[in-house]
Formats: sequence, structure tokens, C-alpha cells
Amino acid sequence: MRIGVLTSGGDCPGLNAVIRSVVHRGTDVHGDEIIGIEDGFLGLIEGRSRPVSHDDVTGLLTLGGTILGSARVQRERINQAVDNAEELARNLGIDALIAIGGEGTLTAARMFSDAGLPVVGVPKTIDNDIAATDVTFGFDTAVHVATEAIDRLKTTAESHQRVMVVELMGRHTGWITLTAGMAAGAHGILIPEKPFDIEAVARMIEERFRRGKKFAIIAVAEGAKPAPGTLRFDHGEVDQYGHQTFGGIGNRLAGELEGLLGKEARPVILGHTQRGGSPTAIDRVLATRFGWHAVEAVHKGAFGHFTALRGTEIQLIPVSEAVAGLKTVPQDRWVESEAVL
Ligand code: F6P
Repeated sequence: MRIGVLTSGGDCPGLNAVIRSVVHRGTDVHGDEIIGIEDGFLGLIEGRSRPVSHDDVTGLLTLGGTILGSARVQRERINQAVDNAEELARNLGIDALIAIGGEGTLTAARMFSDAGLPVVGVPKTIDNDIAATDVTFGFDTAVHVATEAIDRLKTTAESHQRVMVVELMGRHTGWITLTAGMAAGAHGILIPEKPFDIEAVARMIEERFRRGKKFAIIAVAEGAKPAPGTLRFDHGEVDQYGHQTFGGIGNRLAGELEGLLGKEARPVILGHTQRGGSPTAIDRVLATRFGWHAVEAVHKGAFGHFTALRGTEIQLIPVSEAVAGLKTVPQDRWVESEAVL
């Protein structure tokens, strides 16, 4: 078969490991030809592709990013392209497509599948918020980067008796912040799932200093928000998903805390460092397993499905389950940390 593969949406450590795995399983075992589509659905729409051989994937297991490039494409552009799904497949000369991406990509995958371009999905996001899979590759790497950063901030915070506010990725969910915050022993953890009271954050820090501690670390998810009625921030904005956002929350929080506490506070925005660089061993293995199962799914004709980790097994799940809603951090998880405020 001629199988197209594309990576779409924000990049994520482990994408290259999936591509490598698809090429190995497809070419070595099934005799497939793998066609790499450039820049996600943009390349699909514009007919930009190149064959990807065994040689092309040498060394990819450890390499971050994606050799195929990635792009976020407007929903309207995808909707228009879906009407020409069969023609796009014909132009690229592909019999099936493996689409690696987040919720938007998986939604598009289902639409193309329904319209006659057979697609198998592979979920990816560092945010770990895709429903129906226990975990996504990229998450473990992001947590490692964030944990190491918080560890490092402790010594400089203590030297200067400062409050450090570390803003971590997670527009809608607090998986990275909760996990890295717990791993590094952050003193306050603020996640979108539990709106916070800034006065309570300030009280916790004051109490720490009263007990003779010389610094405090607050890990805040970029999507965290103040509880209604405790709002000391300007009103946020509503994003394309209808969620209220408080862009730049790390900066705002550090400024507010400095005013409330009369102590120096510094914001640290980790941003895209959490998405860059080589994947951890756990992410390499998960990405490799997803690639293997995606090729098998194509050969079984399990189109409109995606690979999901359930417990220790990889299962094929209808894409509709992945796009049914975000996987937020459940309360029984975040109550396990006293630092979640
Ligand atoms: O979806 C992953 C994610 O890393 C979010 O946590 C973050 O808000 C967003 O991507 C950043 O996207 P971009 O690279 O388009 O700025």
C-alpha cells in the first residue's frame, strides 16, 4: 500500500519516533511505500509530499520536532478540503493516511475518513488532555523539562529570598503543572481545573516565610484562572474554544504577589522549551508503539480509529471518543497534593 503520514498542530517530542516506526513496520513487514506529507493538512491540501525511506528515518528516534514539518490549519480550510478528499488522495497517490496530531487533527481525520480518504489517527500533545487515551507521548518529556526547571529555580530563589512564579504549558488542563509541581515539590500549584484565590496563595507564602523558609515556588498552568469573586486581575479574554483565558498569567501573578506580600517575586515562563528537544525513553517507546499499531490498523482497515494507551495495552478506539471532550485532571487526583491551592 501507499500510506501517507502527516504531523499536524503544535509539535511534540516523539513525532519523529512515530514516523520512524511507521516506516519500519510499513516498509519492512508489509512492503508499503510511505509518503511523508509536509506541514500537516496544509501539505495535504496543497499536494506537497515526498517518499520517506528507511534511510530517511535513521537517527530519528532521539530527535525532537518533526522532519515533516507541522502547521495549525484553520478549521474552514479543512472543511473545504474535506469535500475533495478523494481527489486529494488521488493527487498524492496514497491509499490511506496516518494523521498524527491533537484533538483538531483527530477531528479532521474523522471528517476525511468519512469523506473517502481512509485515515488512522495517532494522538499527540504534551498537554496530555486528549480523551480516551491514558497518556500521550510528549507529556513525559514536558514534565521532565518542567521538573528540572523548578528544581533549578529553588537555589536561586533561596539565595535571593524570592517568590518564583513558574508558568507551565496547559491551556485547558493542568496535567503538566500538577505532575511537575508535585515532582519538584512546588509550594503552590495552580491549575485550570481548580480556580484559585490569590489571597490564599499569598497567605500560604506568608506562612512559609513566618516558619523561617526563605523562598517559595508557585507552579501555574497557563490556563489557570482566579475563582470568581477573588478576581484581582483584569478580565481575561474568551479563546476560540469559548474558554476564558488570562493570557500571561505568570507575569500577572508575580506582579500581584509582589504587591500583596511586599517581597520580590519573579515570573519564569517556560513556554516552548517544554516542547523542544529529545524525547524521554518513555515517550520514545510510546511513540514507537503507536506507529507500529497505526500501520497494523491501516492493514486491518480500522479507519476512523486512533491508537490509544489503555493501561499497558495499545487499543484502537473510534476517533469520536477522542474528540468528545478534553481530559481534565479529576478532583481525586489534584486533592492528593496539598500544594494545589
Ligand atoms: O497544545 C500544546 C501547547 O503546547 C499548549 O500547551 C500551548 O498553549 C500551545 O500548544 C502553544 O501553541 P503555539 O506553539 O501555537 O504557540
